[in-house]
Amino acid sequence: MQDLGAEDITEAAIAQMANTPDPRLREIMEAAVRHLHAFAREVRLTPDEWLKGIASLTAVGQMCTPHRQEFILLSDALGLSRLVNTMHDAEGREAAGTETSLLGPFFREDAPVIPLGGTLTQVGAARGKGAPELLLHGQVTDAEGRGVAGAEMDIWQTDHEGLYDLQSSDPETMGMRGRIRCDEHGRYHVRTLVPVGYSIPMDGPVGALVRAQARHGFRPAHIHVLVAAPGHRELVTALYLGDDPHIESDTVFGVSHSLVVHPREGDPEAPIQGVPAIRYDFRLSRAAGDGGGRVGADPSRLLPAQ
Ligand code: BEZ
Ligand code: FE
Repeated sequence: MQDLGAEDITEAAIAQMANTPDPRLREIMEAAVRHLHAFAREVRLTPDEWLKGIASLTAVGQMCTPHRQEFILLSDALGLSRLVNTMHDAEGREAAGTETSLLGPFFREDAPVIPLGGTLTQVGAARGKGAPELLLHGQVTDAEGRGVAGAEMDIWQTDHEGLYDLQSSDPETMGMRGRIRCDEHGRYHVRTLVPVGYSIPMDGPVGALVRAQARHGFRPAHIHVLVAAPGHRELVTALYLGDDPHIESDTVFGVSHSLVVHPREGDPEAPIQGVPAIRYDFRLSRAAGDGGGRVGADPSRLLPAQ
């Protein structure tokens, strides 16, 4: 038995974990305990306050369903997803490789395949037919600029009202997302709607926190892109429209300068004319064996197996 004071309890807790067989789990949990205890000491956390914290984390968990991932949202709103992404990039992204951005809580596996030149509005429940359109085109290359034949791209975004399919009344049906396969030179083109900026979901505990912090909760308009090709590091990124009023104050810290785009009218190189076009070339880094680069997942994949 030990008489533990506020300083000794940290070492005692770490000592109890010393036999954790998995060395990485031991390292992570030791550091987590050390930092959590230091945080509680720094703010002089009271029992009432910690209980509120526990209630809030409980609500975050209870909000999660196959169609909603409140923990990813929390990680995003705290800047933790961006931090983990940035460290992951520093490990394995080549200097010329496209910068990454957040996967976010609205990614879904197995989006429908659409042909090159097809449109995200042709997918299932997509709404907004008749809303302003965009053409997204360019090339997927390796870090030396050589086209990556057959690279696969997942592309997803909100509709013209700033809603993802997962937020619609029938979240089972996909819309405004699709997968395309680049041609033999790595070139791609796809039609879509002009994305609009949107508020992150504010009807749950993360929204309550964001409001309590007097933050606006908005993300600038963007198009998510995930690019995969054998031998290359998976690229999770997004393109942000430069004229969005929240381009400088993304509530989840996803924007980087190199990912800001401006649609152009009358681009002579655009493979489809008559639609404002964004040309963007995605540069992949070599596979680095440093694990996946997704801070997030299809919400349905994060629930415990039934
Ligand atoms: C998104 O871009 O889909 C997103 C990212 C983080 C939080 C909410 C939404
Ligand atoms: Fe998004």
